[in-house]
Amino acid sequence: MSQLPQTSRSDSTRPELIDSFGRTVRDLRISVTDRCNFRCTYCMPEEGLQWLPRADVLTYEEIVRVARICVERFGVDGIRLTGGEPTVRAHLPVLIEKLASLVVPPGADSPRAGARIDLALSTNGATLALVAHDLKRAGLSRVNISLDTLNRERFKHMTKRDELNSVLEGIAAARDMGFSPVKINAVVQRGVNDDEIVALATFGREHDVEVRFIEFMPLDAQGGWLTNAVVGQDEIVSTIQAVFPLEQLPSRGAAPADRWRYLDGRGTVGVIPTVTKPFCGDCDRVRLTADGQFRTCLFATDEFDVRALLRGGATDDAIEALLRRAVGEKWAGHNIGQIAFLRPRRSMSQIGG
Ligand code: GTP
Ligand code: 5AD
Ligand code: SF4
Repeated sequence: MSQLPQTSRSDSTRPELIDSFGRTVRDLRISVTDRCNFRCTYCMPEEGLQWLPRADVLTYEEIVRVARICVERFGVDGIRLTGGEPTVRAHLPVLIEKLASLVVPPGADSPRAGARIDLALSTNGATLALVAHDLKRAGLSRVNISLDTLNRERFKHMTKRDELNSVLEGIAAARDMGFSPVKINAVVQRGVNDDEIVALATFGREHDVEVRFIEFMPLDAQGGWLTNAVVGQDEIVSTIQAVFPLEQLPSRGAAPADRWRYLDGRGTVGVIPTVTKPFCGDCDRVRLTADGQFRTCLFATDEFDVRALLRGGATDDAIEALLRRAVGEKWAGHNIGQIAFLRPRRSMSQIGG
């Protein structure tokens, strides 16, 4: 008889996917479209970005197949839909309904083992007042909504659309519909909206939503990102702290946001400090682009062509093997700010945020 060491049966059958740095994959971000109804300057050019040909975009059946493999075989317990702007894709509730029924395997090392996945959406909020009800009914659990300014003129300048009011209505609709939590994402750019940190924090306190300030990342389509356009976490926190005393909350786990609570009990606020305090060491995320390319990092320069397998008659085992190979090659982290940093070939709206 062989005396080779054996893993226990429960370990060897546990659905999981661990990269070569010991990080377990638990979160899948799926971009459902590269199209958008806004043109945020930190993301897209105003004109000239080529949309993906429709035939290149994964069908809902294809997306669900990849999602099912990730949930059933790797124990992924959270899926987030992104874009471009996900709500511009037709019949989004149909996809949500299918994804919402995925169940995390009972043997998974997850607090959601045996329960349905956490299904979330990142949106610019412009059409949310119209679609929130259908999204909720289809089984969506949570929404994160972008809001970088409360000033109408500035909003027009930053998004190239006069839609501040629709977004504010969208945020109200998300809360009324019972999505919980509702989070607000605010990308802070020096000289653009850094004078609104306290105003946005105040908005969060008054509307009972968690505002997360995001450090500007070098993923804008126009390649205009500069280090000195980044407002770092320390500066953001001290700006808020000067007006509303804060206390940092313990360990963020694998989430990208560090969080603080207001000492007067009026909720919490977060910062996503990709540039000044990278959190790659805790990353549990992988991504599927709208055209079916699998990415193991927002900043990855390599993509893995799942669509070719999906459309070439591949088995689930073959797709699993490709995803495992991709995760096996995941790097330790991005090199933003260092000479070794290489911008990904595609920008934010094409990768999926
Ligand atoms: P929660 O599950 O609610 O914490 O969502 P999230 O913050 O992961 O998702 P969301 O789409 O709201 O993203 C907020 C910001 O975090 C965006 O600017 C994303 O690009 C950024 N972000 C999301 N995932 C990653 C990541 O893996 N690495 C980095 N550096 N930033 C990320
Ligand atoms: N840097 C940081 N965040 C960005 N987002 C889009 N482009 C950038 C960038 N260059 C954010 C959006 C949205 C989320 C999906 O990604 O504001 O909240
Ligand atoms: Fe559209 Fe989001 Fe990019 Fe703004 S950040 S242009 S809303 S995809």
